[in-house]
Amino acid sequence: MILTVTPNPSLDRTYELPALTRGAVLRATADRVDPGGKGINVSRAVAAAGHRTVAVAPLGGPEGALLARLLGEHGIEAAGVQIAGSTRVNVTLVEPDGTLTKVNAAGPEITAAEAEALLDAVRARSAATDWIACCGSLPRGLPGEWYAELVASSHRAGARIVLDTSGAALVAALRERPDVIKPNAEELAEAVGRPLATVGAAVRAAEELRTRGAQCVLASLGADGQLLVDGSGTYFGSARVDTVRSNVGAGDASLAGFLAAGGTGPAALAAAVAHGAAAVQLPGSVMPTPADLDPSSVTTTTDVPLDRPLTEPAS
Ligand SMILES: Nc1ncnc2c1ncn2[C@@H]1O[C@H](COP(=O)(O)OP(=O)(O)OP(=O)(O)O)[C@@H](O)[C@H]1O
Ligand SMILES: [Mg+2]
Repeated sequence: MILTVTPNPSLDRTYELPALTRGAVLRATADRVDPGGKGINVSRAVAAAGHRTVAVAPLGGPEGALLARLLGEHGIEAAGVQIAGSTRVNVTLVEPDGTLTKVNAAGPEITAAEAEALLDAVRARSAATDWIACCGSLPRGLPGEWYAELVASSHRAGARIVLDTSGAALVAALRERPDVIKPNAEELAEAVGRPLATVGAAVRAAEELRTRGAQCVLASLGADGQLLVDGSGTYFGSARVDTVRSNVGAGDASLAGFLAAGGTGPAALAAAVAHGAAAVQLPGSVMPTPADLDPSSVTTTTDVPLDRPLTEPAS
């Protein structure tokens, strides 16, 4: 079972518009609502891969109730922690040429008691869990060390834990030795405090985060592919992609693929790359199903192209 933790989930409402005109009343030609949030994306992809997954998230108001119902429809068990605030609604406006305009709400503030109830919800399920995936930024009210506490309590329960977050929340959690972290190039650059221009620079940054506590670093480098740096060595994986439709959620899909394939070693890296490549060929943050994957397009190697410049250097 793969448990995900999404501290700031959302209801993602998408409106398709004939044109986006400022200051006008716009009539949507179609609209939909999807469960949103990075851990929830991971659960969606894990469920699509046929694994059992439980999503822990704070839920509040009618929006929270609707989110729980939508999760159920996606085959995800919702372990909602009731909060006084209301689950946020994020809005995406889609123009006919595919241009997306997003409005993300800050989300509710979490009280100290609710923060504790979230930790309890994870602890109650940790012993029955193979992996705990904690994804996204921390909402207002959750202390910067909240993920660090979660890593410590998960390890006490014998569960392995992966963190996909950034900034101070990531740095603070390293000292508790998370089993895996999944930074993208920007998050990696921010954590080591220097820009990254080549694959080799990303490898050195990942090695530095290992010396600071991460046991394994799965670094996603956008179009350039992914690095896996663990105690056994360094692996590089990439895939051919003809047309990129949307890279939103590609990292979440990758992480789901990695965990569904065991969460360790080059075979899991290959699954992560296959899921990332499939995700970018799907619209919005749609998560790939096994039918969308093309494992034959993926290559992994220990012969890492250290001198290769990153397509999008990270500052
Ligand atoms: N333009 C692209 N072409 C081919 N593959 C891509 C592209 N963008 C992303 N991918 C694949 O998806 C993986 C994850 O993408 P990325 O590094 O952008 O994650 P991310 O920034 O964490 O995304 P998010 O947080 O939105 O889910 C990449 O490592 C790669 O395998
Ligand atoms: Mg990401």
